[in-house]
Amino acid sequence: MDNNTNFTIIKQGAEGRIYKGVYLQKPVIVKERFNKKYRHPELDDTLTKERIKAEARGIVRCKVAGIFTPALYLVDLKRRCIFMEDIENSTTAKDYINKLNEDEENEENKKCIDKLAYEIGASVGKMHVNNIIHGDLTTSNILIKANKIYFIDFGLSHVSTSAEDKAVDLYVLERALLSTHANSDRFFKKILLSYQDNNKKYKEVITRFEEVRTRGRKRTMIG
Ligand SMILES: Nc1ncnc2c1ncn2[C@@H]1O[C@H](COP(=O)(O)OP(=O)(O)O)[C@@H](O)[C@H]1O
Ligand SMILES: [Mg+2]
Repeated sequence: MDNNTNFTIIKQGAEGRIYKGVYLQKPVIVKERFNKKYRHPELDDTLTKERIKAEARGIVRCKVAGIFTPALYLVDLKRRCIFMEDIENSTTAKDYINKLNEDEENEENKKCIDKLAYEIGASVGKMHVNNIIHGDLTTSNILIKANKIYFIDFGLSHVSTSAEDKAVDLYVLERALLSTHANSDRFFKKILLSYQDNNKKYKEVITRFEEVRTRGRKRTMIG
């Protein structure tokens, strides 16, 4: 990305950079991943590329399943980056919820939050019906634009039929909500209700989920 003046950095993280720019006359987001210096170079290169591939596969698999994701434009393993549609003027679910929570007594705001919980539950239910595990379900990895929700950040996604993997996916989301948002209890309950409406095999997953949660609690108590 070095000699490309067309792009501006919008996020600099430990694992990579996010750029905004134009590619083939379209607004794009470029996600570049670094190799980490302290790891074994060859292993590291493989891991980085696996995450880029996982990202591309997750985006496409979700799209095929009818879940909104950015369009995928280019995967460049050599430059360790991926070009995708810029969901312009979107907000993260995180910012959206925080804004609504500023006035949580407002009935209109409550309705918006409930609607979002419903949408998230429905989409995650659909993902799991299609055996797609997102791997990093947080409110920063969900974008909202014009009443539609888009999922992003699929670097840890994989395909699995196991109820355990789906349960852990839900648990990651619950933990993320608890650590980011007030009133997340009610919000997550709504997500689970909608998840159940959209996933015929939900019972096994929910049972597993309760187990994963108990394991998590025990671990927290021990230290
Ligand atoms: N396709 C996109 N359209 C619009 N904004 C995006 C897009 N992809 C990423 N972003 C923005 O960049 C942030 C980080 O992207 P993400 O894929 O989650 O990378 P990270 O691994 O750094 O979390 C997102 O929270 C969002 O604000
Ligand atoms: Mg992210």
